[in-house]
Amino acid sequence: MTSTAIKEKYVMRENEGELERLANHHEIISHYIGGLVLAPVDLSQPNLRILDSGTADGLWLRELKSSTAIENPHTYIGTDINESFFPFPPPRNLFFHVQSITRPWPDNWHGTFDYVHQRLTLPGAGPVPIATCVSNLARLVKPGGWVELMEADFTGSSSNGPAAKLFEKLMAKFLDTIGVGFTYARTLPSLLENAGLENVQHKSFVIEYGAACPDEALGAKGISHLLSTSVGMLAFLKGLPGKDVDGEISRLPETLDEELKSRGACFTMIAAWGQQREDGNGKYS
Ligand SMILES: C[S@@+](CC[C@H](N)C(=O)[O-])C[C@H]1O[C@@H](n2cnc3c(N)ncnc32)[C@H](O)[C@@H]1O
Repeated sequence: MTSTAIKEKYVMRENEGELERLANHHEIISHYIGGLVLAPVDLSQPNLRILDSGTADGLWLRELKSSTAIENPHTYIGTDINESFFPFPPPRNLFFHVQSITRPWPDNWHGTFDYVHQRLTLPGAGPVPIATCVSNLARLVKPGGWVELMEADFTGSSSNGPAAKLFEKLMAKFLDTIGVGFTYARTLPSLLENAGLENVQHKSFVIEYGAACPDEALGAKGISHLLSTSVGMLAFLKGLPGKDVDGEISRLPETLDEELKSRGACFTMIAAWGQQREDGNGKYS
């Protein structure tokens, strides 16, 4: 496919294209991490309060709800700056609240959650320090409750082909330009520790896309996800003042498409989770 055809196919058509991109990635990530939850949260306990920050259409929450025993309902709350993605009316026990990770959370939410999950949302902090955003999330959990974060890491040495390497380089530039910084995912464990959490653990996952993925159907979803992301990234780069996006960069969707179909690519995700201290949530000013 030419870059123009790919752009036409993958340019975000209102919510539809973005939700398909997120659903593909959700399926891929869930496959590689082996489920939905990494923190040792005991979901068999009754009446947990579970928050998914940057929830988009709440797919992670909805799948978590489906995977938990029906006689043991929890309260599932999704937050995002964009409310148009979330299903309306929401399914039973699911709630949505407009909330930016950069803004103070409702006072009466502090210390009320058993589990706070946030995936691929920290870049939305923009110039606001991500340490502030993570501390604010940590305030939401009860003593003994967990915060879990997952983000994409573009800092490692890459054995990908030239197109995927260019994609990584542009992603790093994007993260630097928006203010989050391209090394941000590496800092997840220390962000949780500095937010006062304990028992912090982290794990890296190598996610295989396109021909690198042994599951052909999942590999194809990975191609779709990355092409859609690359089209969005080129649109962002074009919008930067004085930035000419031409030559090799403007052909990225086309070269990436070919490379993903022939050899695939691997990218790393880092997850980290930490637990609120038993004496926690009184120590923050
Ligand atoms: C890449 S999507 C990830 C969605 C979902 N967490 C997942 O993993 O599939 C990023 C989400 O973060 C939301 N977002 C961006 N900036 C945000 C902010 N400052 N506060 C809250 N949500 C934000 C976007 O609207 C979008 O739904």
